[in-house]
Amino acid sequence: MRGTGLLIANESVTLTSGAHMAVLGLGTWQARGRIAVNAVLRALDVGYRHIDTATMYGNEEQVGQAVAESGVPREEIFVTTKLPPGRAGRERATLKESLDALGLDYVDLWLIHWPPSGGARPDVWTRLLDLQAEGLARDVGVSNYSVRQIDELERATGRLPAVNQIEWSPALFDGDMLEAHRSRGVQLEGYSPLKTTNLRDPRLVQIAEERGVTPAQVILRWHIEHRIVAIPKSTNAERIAENAAIFGFELRPSEVEQLNGPTPARRH
Ligand code: A2P
Repeated sequence: MRGTGLLIANESVTLTSGAHMAVLGLGTWQARGRIAVNAVLRALDVGYRHIDTATMYGNEEQVGQAVAESGVPREEIFVTTKLPPGRAGRERATLKESLDALGLDYVDLWLIHWPPSGGARPDVWTRLLDLQAEGLARDVGVSNYSVRQIDELERATGRLPAVNQIEWSPALFDGDMLEAHRSRGVQLEGYSPLKTTNLRDPRLVQIAEERGVTPAQVILRWHIEHRIVAIPKSTNAERIAENAAIFGFELRPSEVEQLNGPTPARRH
């Protein structure tokens, strides 16, 4: 593994509730069984304090098992899970099932995984807010929502989601989208930071070589420079550690700018 400096993954952003969310989390999509337990254990061991799961991932039990086995105090770990859109109308039962599987009394963040049937569904959002008020989720938010849908939730309830988790990477960069979230006070959280990136892009490789880090580390650092929460997924012990070793270097504003936006090959 290449990397420089500290391995500290607990730099954080502050959500509307006042809670702190680590800017780097472990994604767990498609991680199952013992592989999922080991990935989360490894992440907690190297300093991650934020784990992202979902009812749809089928691994909440494994995430909970690793959290319990790790010995890291529960309150130090930020745990996100998500309501499948098909469970709209059964919010309470679904969250209770998630908490049972995770072995937790509350989650730090509960998201509507996708707009149910493509709609914003303020009624579903209201029920998330009710469950938050009961203390079962510290913060509530959405995933894969458009800004228009977020505004629809606010118009109906007067409450904005704490977070919108969407697919994000340099290739998918959209300055207007970022600003729209920022101006509303909605934290942008990006998923699939690596899968949607060409790690052999010459600009990226050059920046990485100059720093003595890997292209993947530059991509994750780019998110941090933008204050966008990143949740790279890995089940590989080396890459889990590599992805966290991004707090010992910085990118210059000109480098951040250079990476913003699609590469020429993807512009069409
Ligand atoms: P693996 O689990 O074998 O490490 P994303 O989070 O963007 O969806 O990307 C996940 C994919 O990227 C997984 O296939 C994962 O594989 C791989 N991956 C994770 N970390 C790195 C890394 N540092 N370098 C290259 N590939 C990585």
